[in-house]
Amino acid sequence: MSEQKKVYVGMSADLIHPGHLNILEHAASLGEVTVGLLTDRAIASYKRLPHLTYDQRRAVVASLRWVHDVVPQETLDYVDNLRLHRPDIVVHGDDWQTGVQRKTRQRVIDALAEWGGELVEPAYTEGISSTQLHQALKQVGTTPNVRLSRLRRLLDSKDIVRILEAHSGLTGLLVESSTARRGDVTVEFDGMWSSSLTDSTARGKPDIEAVDISARLQTINEIFEVTTKPLIFDGDTGGKPEHFAFTVRSLERLGVSAVIVEDKEGLKRNSLFGTDVEQTQSSIEDFSFRLRTGKEAQITEDFMVIARIESLILGKGVKDALDRAEAYLEAGADGIMIHSREKTPDEVYEFAEGFASFRGDSPLVAVPSSYHTVTESELADHGFNVVIYANHMMRAAYPHMAETARSILEHGRTTEVEPQLSSIKDALAIIPENFA
Ligand code: SPV
Ligand code: MG
Repeated sequence: MSEQKKVYVGMSADLIHPGHLNILEHAASLGEVTVGLLTDRAIASYKRLPHLTYDQRRAVVASLRWVHDVVPQETLDYVDNLRLHRPDIVVHGDDWQTGVQRKTRQRVIDALAEWGGELVEPAYTEGISSTQLHQALKQVGTTPNVRLSRLRRLLDSKDIVRILEAHSGLTGLLVESSTARRGDVTVEFDGMWSSSLTDSTARGKPDIEAVDISARLQTINEIFEVTTKPLIFDGDTGGKPEHFAFTVRSLERLGVSAVIVEDKEGLKRNSLFGTDVEQTQSSIEDFSFRLRTGKEAQITEDFMVIARIESLILGKGVKDALDRAEAYLEAGADGIMIHSREKTPDEVYEFAEGFASFRGDSPLVAVPSSYHTVTESELADHGFNVVIYANHMMRAAYPHMAETARSILEHGRTTEVEPQLSSIKDALAIIPENFA
């Protein structure tokens, strides 16, 4: 046995398919196989979070007959693990010879050369891939519990969780499926924000809690019918504490991951009005009671009640915001959102610096609507864990709809505005089931 070669296979193993089995069978024919199983954090560094947790994936891989041992691989890069385990052979499908994994592959070859190890690359199994399976799973959908717990998993595995506003099935679909290249990696949104501003605006109503919770939940139901990503709910003031308890239960039942409630009372107005309109901030005691009532109402372990502090919006300064943050965490809040309507992030950065001294591992949320030049990585560097793009799908749609209406009126026909519109065929293609 001692003459067995040490073989190392790195994998995510989220949706195990025959391609994985071929690799592992090949690896086992060469020696004793250790699987370097990528952690959630390692996977989230270059693609979407896996469906299964690390422990679930480890249980599956460890039970495969070709696998002798499973060790965590904390980064996409193999080198640290290779130096630790010094395998004779690394096995990987030959599909990584081109594309984004090329550099990772070269680093494996260079590291193996340090002790005379070898890279073996069996032919990639055509016709099946995790990406195809992932698409198929999305069509099947998700369950409330899986969706709900995903936000905590994302917080555990990403430097900053990226959330975009959705106020309809269509905007939800866009958050679900939009992707872009950023350097070497493909990025996507991690989840959705149900904004009181955009949900009210879509109904032609003001953002003053005039759209009641039943109507807000209806929007979420429509979004959840066609998406799988987690959602954070803008709970406005939360209303009366006794009512807030029911809201928490309803949200959990649907599979919403978190509610953000703000420390205001009376007639709530949108924060971006600041002190231009009359708005009343709650006392620390009253708001703490609301938070506690919400926390006591929840049933699952994973649901989060996040406290939103309006001190900067109302001109009360960073010290007031920090005093409140400390009290709200004490009252049981799972995280803090600090809001600001300044054009620069200076005051939220000052807040984040003070927050660091007592935050523990509580997440910090930013909504950079007015200080929009900040990047996600700058926010992460200053200690923020979640960025919410709170109103952008609505703000994108409105000017195009308004111009279309105006142009039809001006010209008495649609020819002039047609170049700015999607073709009817493209509009049908937004919903793939139109062609099913
Ligand atoms: C919302 O999106 O409704 C918010 C954020 O509460 S803000 O509009 O900036 O107040
Ligand atoms: Mg709101």
